[in-house]
Amino acid sequence: MNKNKLRCLTTAVTAVLASVCFNAAAADGNEILKSSCASCHNITGPAPTTLKDLWSRKGPDLFYAGNKYRPEWMEAWLHKPTRIRPTGMFYADNLKSGEKYEVVDAAKLAEHPALDKEKAAAVTSELMKLKPHDDLIAKETIEPGTIGLTMGEMVFDKFTGCLACHEIEPGYGGVSGPEVYTAGARLQPAYIASFTRNPQAWDPKTWMPNKHVSDVNIQKIVRYLDALSKEANNAN
Ligand code: HEC
Ligand code: HEC
Repeated sequence: MNKNKLRCLTTAVTAVLASVCFNAAAADGNEILKSSCASCHNITGPAPTTLKDLWSRKGPDLFYAGNKYRPEWMEAWLHKPTRIRPTGMFYADNLKSGEKYEVVDAAKLAEHPALDKEKAAAVTSELMKLKPHDDLIAKETIEPGTIGLTMGEMVFDKFTGCLACHEIEPGYGGVSGPEVYTAGARLQPAYIASFTRNPQAWDPKTWMPNKHVSDVNIQKIVRYLDALSKEANNAN
């Protein structure tokens, strides 16, 4: 090979290498979602409409993530995931008989994969674009206001029966639904209102019943979950 050809070849190889490295450096959120997340999460919709599809669900649906989550929470969580559903996706799978009541078999629960900060940011910005349910969100008006934790707990427990399935602090409350002591930091207020009003409008086969909560109590629940997550945050 003469010198010129060799120089040419070296330049070409360098250019290819540079472009490979460049692509690897700029995290592609959409690509990560498809290759590393779609095996467990529904990122395209629609929600399952049969029990069979429901049972094959391995992680929560993310195809309406932009209507549901707070982006700053999402980005931080993807980098350092913590448990949200005390028993994983299906509580019956991971319960063992305790002495008086069923307890969570934590040994069976897998750790969630974590992303480095750059990938977490790239994936979050992709997920926040997914907003097929703007119509449901538009129906909700969140009125400003505050509520004491004691009053809030009364509404959440005694008036509406939510505590039966949701923990309001670690180890206190039902375990069949996601914990709600970080829900205020995790979820958009209008989503909390809309999902509480009609869970089946979001997820036709969800286990969560429609409790026909009044408008007044929906506002109180949104305020309560906000106050609760601020308290949970202060405690850390
Ligand atoms: C092996 C299956 C699996 C893979 C792969 C996976 N997840 Fe998850 N994911 C889960 C499960 C199960 C949960 C519920 C965890 C919990 O509630 O404690 C979850 C929870 C989440 C949550 C919190 C949502 C909520 O409402 O609880 C987000 C956000 C999330 N995953 C995003 C991702 C992203 C982005 C990827 C790809 C980088 C990914 N996941 C890969 C199984 C998976
Ligand atoms: C019979 C059990 C049950 C009861 C009672 C119940 N929930 Fe749920 N809830 C669930 C389950 C299960 C989910 C998870 C749905 C999913 O991800 O598919 C859920 C999800 C939620 C979410 C979304 C949380 C998230 O991170 O995805 C909110 C908010 C919520 N419930 C609020 C309430 C409120 C408010 C009440 C009382 C009016 C209530 N729930 C009563 C079982 C219940």
